[in-house]
Amino acid sequence: MEEKKPQIRVWCDGCYDMVHFGHANSLRQAKALGDYLIVGVHTDEEITKHKGPPVFTEEERYKMVRGIKWVDEVVEGAPYVTTLETLDQYNCDFCVHGDDITMTADGIDTYHLVKAAGRYKEVQRTAGVSTTDLVGRMLLLTRQHFQQGAREYEVGREGPSNMGQDSSARSPWTGCSQFLPTTQKIIQFSDGKPPKPNDKIVYVAGAFDLFHVGHLDFLEQARKQGDYLIVGLHTDPVVNKYRGGNYPIMNLHERVLSVLACKYVSEVVIGAPLVVTKELMDHFKVDIVCHGQTPIQTGGFDDPYAEPKRQGKFKLLDSGNTMTTEKIVERIILHRLEFEARNMRKEKKEIAAYEAYTKAKKEGKVRCCFLQECSSARRL
Ligand code: CTP
Ligand code: C5P
Repeated sequence: MEEKKPQIRVWCDGCYDMVHFGHANSLRQAKALGDYLIVGVHTDEEITKHKGPPVFTEEERYKMVRGIKWVDEVVEGAPYVTTLETLDQYNCDFCVHGDDITMTADGIDTYHLVKAAGRYKEVQRTAGVSTTDLVGRMLLLTRQHFQQGAREYEVGREGPSNMGQDSSARSPWTGCSQFLPTTQKIIQFSDGKPPKPNDKIVYVAGAFDLFHVGHLDFLEQARKQGDYLIVGLHTDPVVNKYRGGNYPIMNLHERVLSVLACKYVSEVVIGAPLVVTKELMDHFKVDIVCHGQTPIQTGGFDDPYAEPKRQGKFKLLDSGNTMTTEKIVERIILHRLEFEARNMRKEKKEIAAYEAYTKAKKEGKVRCCFLQECSSARRL
């Protein structure tokens, strides 16, 4: 008789604030290292103590992590410092984290215990996306209202006062200025499964900018309308035309990955037309087209859902969630100073830790896996 291989249980933890495809990619890589993935998410209180105020509440963050397709289980209120007791409590073999450093308010590596016990693995952090960077992009929207002169960062580098896309990325970990999309990443995120012959196909379209709990609840409802959910993403110029300002905050490539990481989504149309045409419906064999409770964007033209309505294949859904991309931006702007301070504190801590590491390395004093070189992290 063939012996059954024991299940490898993997633990990840973090803040998962403003969940983005960088978080999803770390969870994808973590899952690939085992069979069952448990994700511990910290409370608002813990994050505020160690890092600064989160943008999203713990309930919102728990839900967002549960919505990621590689996650099997979420542990709410996981401790900030990962202990062996926590790994044992959930029967996890080891803990996985990206190749950046996470520290407590006192500057202690939150993974020092699991590293010392040899129960820690690293995966490569996704360069060019972070909560810090996204907050920076949103704050750029306020540029006309907050014109401050350029000031020196305390770490001795020059940078503009608003932590924008081009200026937030200074630390060696959060530090790549731009995400570089590749076909491989899309393949890794995609299920790659076509619909089965008798599947009922649901189509929805929109910007899905800064993928959030409102989108998640809507997609859950949409998926319940059938068996195979296709999400059409409008192009950046189209979204900019109907939203104005600096929208979309995330570009099309980034939005594609955020939506593909969602467990309810089967397929994404990269750059869908605003108008849901007969050709599109025939091509994808769409059985039903859905829209949520937000206003329908016409882009100055006629009703984009005229065709599905004519065919009797249109349904308005109410997920009961009123979150919107604009509300997130409002939250950020309202707490602008706190977030700016939080971003700068995080960056300063990381730079100091990295400098200490490079100094120790030069002197031949690097002892354990504390701060491994980025290149040593596994790329999966
Ligand atoms: N992560 C990643 N790539 C990113 C951002 C985060 O791989 N671009 C990983 C982190 O390395 C960690 C997990 O996502 O393993 C959870 O990170 P989190 O605790 O939420 O905090 P940050 O690393 O600070 O993420 P961010 O800078 O986006 O707030
Ligand atoms: O705003 P956006 O175009 O990204 O929305 C995509 C889809 O998600 C739309 O159908 C919208 O009505 C829906 N949605 C929702 N509830 C929210 C936010 C968005 O049903 N809170």
